[in-house]
Amino acid sequence: MTMQHQTQNPFRYGAKVTGGAFYDRREIKNSMENAIDGGNNVVLYGPRRYGKSSLVAEMMTELQARGTVCVYLNIMNFASLADFVIAYTKAVYDQLAPAAAALKHISGFFRRIRPVVRMSEDGRPEMSFSFDSGKIGVAELREAFELPEKLRPRRSRLVIVLDEFQEVAEFGLGARFEQVMRSVIENHSEIGYVFLGSKTHMLKRMFAAPSRPFYRSAQTFSLALPPEDEGLKFLVDKFASVGMSIGAPVAKKIVELSGNVPYYLQALGSWTFRVASELRKNKISAADVDNAFEMMYDAERDLFESMFRALPESQRLVARALALEPAGVMTDEYRTRHFLPNASTVGTAIRRLVADSRIDMVDGLYRHLDPVFAHHLRRTSPM
Ligand SMILES: Nc1ncnc2c1ncn2[C@@H]1O[C@H](COP(=O)(O)OP(=O)(O)O)[C@@H](O)[C@H]1O
Ligand SMILES: [Mg+2]
Repeated sequence: MTMQHQTQNPFRYGAKVTGGAFYDRREIKNSMENAIDGGNNVVLYGPRRYGKSSLVAEMMTELQARGTVCVYLNIMNFASLADFVIAYTKAVYDQLAPAAAALKHISGFFRRIRPVVRMSEDGRPEMSFSFDSGKIGVAELREAFELPEKLRPRRSRLVIVLDEFQEVAEFGLGARFEQVMRSVIENHSEIGYVFLGSKTHMLKRMFAAPSRPFYRSAQTFSLALPPEDEGLKFLVDKFASVGMSIGAPVAKKIVELSGNVPYYLQALGSWTFRVASELRKNKISAADVDNAFEMMYDAERDLFESMFRALPESQRLVARALALEPAGVMTDEYRTRHFLPNASTVGTAIRRLVADSRIDMVDGLYRHLDPVFAHHLRRTSPM
């Protein structure tokens, strides 16, 4: 066995990446950090898999190194408002857990949320929460939002990150959620709130529509694709770090096949590394990348199939037509050619796909935001 065969894969994908697995994004990260240091809240939106969560994880690492306490929650993981309130309370408490001596005072912080202190097996006090009312509602939500300011040590800064924030719309409170949160957090001048989300338009509306509670309450950032040369450099460096070389045209092929989306760039890099390692090669060829793309696509296919099935029929048809042919979707001829429903149904389907950030208008045409999903739609089209 050669050394190279035992070398660790230098690419990371799936979970948030930080440190050496992270490229570019310096400028936007610094701007966001400055905004937070300046006492602002921040909203960052951008399509799935562009690197929002990673960017914020990287930023949190830096903030924590400077002594700022950070709390992170992904709203995507919560099934209900109760889930959110309990997770928020626990996460805030865990980060700001007062010294054991202060634990007996903690019940004074709560009215509706009842903290329960138990001793863990190794003798440390552990906190869990129960609630007075059987049903968790607005009052409990308000209390959870008040907690960080109550627990925050004097003169300390705190940052609270809520990932996939637009999903709070699913909690059934309507605008109440935003109203309650805004009314509590607008008094938290020493706490920076960071809102992330993949549903660009929904999040934009939340913070930019005058009728909404969060109107102008945060500085807005949008995450675009990184510059291509940063991706190229990252690929060349990562392969070099394991003794493999990749020519500029082949690296460019990886960037192109991945649509320059950071997730796919890392995934395709990773599969390419596996292909080359299998063959015990240390120079990557274009054919290796083609084989790797097939493997990557295979690994994603299940997800794409369920994404496709989850769309209503009109959206399935429109999504596939746009993957095959982005131009001309509003013409009669296009609709006939792609077996699409009537113009108004197509219009509605487009609006839904845009609202869910599956597609967006780029250079005057509706295009897929996930280049490999678009590939899947072309690949599986009977047309
Ligand atoms: N700045 C970056 N450098 C390197 N890889 C990145 C970067 N941002 C994202 N990625 C890749 O994309 C994947 C998804 O990133 P993530 O932060 O979860 O995206 P998002 O939150 O926008 O959906 C990561 O696992 C990683 O492989
Ligand atoms: Mg994310």
